Amino acid sequence: MDWETLKATCLQCTMCPLCQTRHNVVFGVGPTDAEILFVGEGPGEQEDLTGEPFVGPAGKLLDDMLRIIDLGRHNCYIANIVKCRPPHNRDPLGTEQDACIGYLRRQAKLLNPKIIVCLGRIAAMKLIREDFKITRDHGTWEQKGGIWFTAMYHPSALLRDVSKRPDTFRDLKRLQAKAAEICTHTP
Ligand code: URA
Repeated sequence: MDWETLKATCLQCTMCPLCQTRHNVVFGVGPTDAEILFVGEGPGEQEDLTGEPFVGPAGKLLDDMLRIIDLGRHNCYIANIVKCRPPHNRDPLGTEQDACIGYLRRQAKLLNPKIIVCLGRIAAMKLIREDFKITRDHGTWEQKGGIWFTAMYHPSALLRDVSKRPDTFRDLKRLQAKAAEICTHTP
């Protein structure tokens, strides 16, 4: 399946009940040759209203975080574990994640990124390890299927708790070093 077919299929998805309350499917954005894929949890209110990932307050902070290491929407792909907003921003249920994860897996296959960065525990538990503990394991790296995986705190968590920001600064610098080591057209 190519990008256009995948997106068109995803935009019409009715595989879980989140389709009943969504305004827009938030498919993901970024260049299709991006070497780094960021994965959040699921759309919030602003994302649901616009169809774009990370455009609300957490998204503004994500943009600031990326800018520190010369990354941005022009050279990264940004997506979520679930493409439709869970009501009241609750965590996506396991059944919703399972219904949706095939889209992300197809996106990752088409993109073929060198690095996948999980934003927060939901993405890390789904993509890295079920027993991933974000407070313990953020900033660690592991290679699976030829792709390097890491996780950092979700920007929403950094908005709520600024004491987590120094750790995230270190995690960003590690990401920058890994990108310099293995990426060919990312700073
Ligand atoms: N939080 C997420 O996890 N994803 C978004 O797209 C926005 C907020």
